[in-house]
Amino acid sequence: MKGVILAGGLGTRLNPLTLVTNKHLLPIYNKPMIFYPIETLVKAGVTEVMIVTSGPHVGHFLSILKNGKEFGLKHLEYAYQEKPDGGIADALSIARDFADDQPLAVVLGDNTTDADISDAVKNFKSGGHVFLRQVPDPQRYGVAELDKKDKSKIVQILEKPKNPPTNLAVTGLYLYDNKVFGFIDAIEPSNRGELEITDVNNMYIKRGELTWSELGGYWTDAGTFETLFRAGKYWHDKAQKEAK
Ligand code: TTP
Repeated sequence: MKGVILAGGLGTRLNPLTLVTNKHLLPIYNKPMIFYPIETLVKAGVTEVMIVTSGPHVGHFLSILKNGKEFGLKHLEYAYQEKPDGGIADALSIARDFADDQPLAVVLGDNTTDADISDAVKNFKSGGHVFLRQVPDPQRYGVAELDKKDKSKIVQILEKPKNPPTNLAVTGLYLYDNKVFGFIDAIEPSNRGELEITDVNNMYIKRGELTWSELGGYWTDAGTFETLFRAGKYWHDKAQKEAK
């Protein structure tokens, strides 16, 4: 399986920090944000990775990540998202040639987790797979509605619902087969003008091909000052504990 890290977007919620560098290079405790998704992929045995990025600071990635060898990557490739706010599915569409018909592990560049997704990667055969997580504020996320009789089945994913059917948020880690690119071609921009990954996931659901598992360990996105601060505190405290 190959890996794709989506590090485009505008990062407006972290202004003014994102005026000087790309959001995904801002520090979470002692490392640039993007180190965390890279480490998640490498831990799961995914060592051929493409980073999709955008905006005025894209050159900064090269000086930090170089060719990725220091992280245990065998191959690191960079791609540019022309429309930085085209949406997560728009950013993913750029990885079509890189994927070369292989399945993909996709991680949003501002997600940080110590979960181990190796088993899901190893056992993945086809379709799509999402990692869900119980959260206290599901209204902020894509939320999974499960089949009442068979909880292993997702009936639909609702984007930022006012009345969430569950507290299971869709995290920014996904596994897809190569059908994902055809699904992205078929969706239309949402009201906010973005190609939504939720629409892609719902297409997998319609075909009965979206599986899910619960993401263990710690997980958060770090796209707001509050979550960036909390993520830094988590990794700081964990490092202190491990040093004892
Ligand atoms: P968001 O946090 O939803 O969007 P953003 O990064 O543009 O930030 P803001 O809302 O503060 O302006 O996106 C989550 C992740 O998805 C982000 O870290 C990178 C990725 N992404 C892309 O790669 N391309 C895109 O067009 C978008 C919207 C997001």
